Amino acid sequence: MDLLRVFGGARLAGDVDVVGAKNSALKLMAVTLLAPGRSVVTNVPRITDIAIMAEVLRRLGCAVTAEDDRIEIDVPDECGTEADYDLVRRLRASICVLGPLLARRGHVRVAHPGGDAIGSRGLDMHVAGLRRMGADITSEHGFVIATAERLHGATIWLDFPSVGATENLLMAAVLAKGTTEIDNAAREPEIVDICEMLTAMGAKISGAGTSQLLVEGVDSLAPVEHRTVGDRIVAGTWAFAAAMTRGEVTVHGVPVSHLEIALDKLLTAGADVEPVDDGFRVRMGRRPTAVDVVTLPFPGFPTDLLPMAVGLAAVSEGASLITENIFDGRFMFIQELVRLGAEIRTDGHHAVVRGRERLSGAPVSATDIRAGAGLAVAALCGDGVTEVSHVHHIDRGYPTFAADLTSLGAHVERVQAPAEPVFGL
Ligand code: EPU
Repeated sequence: MDLLRVFGGARLAGDVDVVGAKNSALKLMAVTLLAPGRSVVTNVPRITDIAIMAEVLRRLGCAVTAEDDRIEIDVPDECGTEADYDLVRRLRASICVLGPLLARRGHVRVAHPGGDAIGSRGLDMHVAGLRRMGADITSEHGFVIATAERLHGATIWLDFPSVGATENLLMAAVLAKGTTEIDNAAREPEIVDICEMLTAMGAKISGAGTSQLLVEGVDSLAPVEHRTVGDRIVAGTWAFAAAMTRGEVTVHGVPVSHLEIALDKLLTAGADVEPVDDGFRVRMGRRPTAVDVVTLPFPGFPTDLLPMAVGLAAVSEGASLITENIFDGRFMFIQELVRLGAEIRTDGHHAVVRGRERLSGAPVSATDIRAGAGLAVAALCGDGVTEVSHVHHIDRGYPTFAADLTSLGAHVERVQAPAEPVFGL
């Protein structure tokens, strides 16, 4: 197991390129299941989650090859219908094969993914929506089992604009008989990306990027080549890192429109933010001023940037109230940030953060992808050295994290963690 050694006192400066969004690419790979033949997805990040998704597809009978940022997926006429627990437990997102496999094969068994470090993560909206479309769904021996001779169109109201449920229902609806209306749909850029790929394949979708998606089912779809949208969470991470370290970073590959509220918070905190050709630049010349943040579905402040918002608040002047509305376990990492000297009190889904001029390096543990990145960036604002353990979490979302930090002027080292001593009696 590796750990990341971060030397405090850095000021990040320079340019950083952001690749395609993990949370889009994974679903685009599932989208390919809807059309037999060879599809290509480009601008794909080289991370473990993508490799696990490739294995999910291989076990469904697809031939998957990868070269640089390009993945080719050859889908057979009759693909498999099962996703096993050994893969689903490692990649919760593999639940997104449920909708497309049900639509194409009329039968599917996907292991129930369970919860994870950021929360309980239900599937009720996925299931209720597919039932509305005529699926018979049961849960047995840890599997979600769905059957439907042919799904039919339906009007589906989501209780909450769930990203995963919207994606599964979309991928099911494109091959259903008749028209499906998904109300209170998620509006994330990754949803728009999926809609664009599906449309290029021959699907009939209107309302992408709004709360109401209308899908007119078609009989078949054709394979295509599609470029993944840039990763707005990675881009946002660098934007906050620039502000926290009082630096100047130009981020390429993600438009301002995908991060409006997050960048507006940085403006309020005192940063200069300006758009550039293929991204934006963030410059901060002084200590940030405290800002309040509330996470919400897009276009609200993204929950995946919550650790960055708490990190910013920890070094800002004044007190910030940070509210998390999406995941019940997202504050797990806060005790690690407190180890770096942050002054934080939580109450339910609220955190009050009193900013300090400097944090102080200490050993900490990454609990999930975003927490890991947030802790490493906070460590740049500390005195001394911080060792972030369980760095494999960061690898799941940031393909070149340490190299990017180094190219922006930080001093970081990736080293092998010493073996844990074993105590006996
Ligand atoms: N929810 C339910 N029932 C459902 C579906 C969702 O209760 O049927 C709840 C979840 O438990 C959660 C909330 O609704 O509390 C939001 O869940 P959503 O379905 O919107 O999220 P997701 O699809 O599971 C994706 C990203 C997350 C990101 C969220 C929110 C992927 C693979 N994951 O998760 O990304 O935080 O949307 O934007 O796309 C990450 O990348 O680090 C990450 C966790």
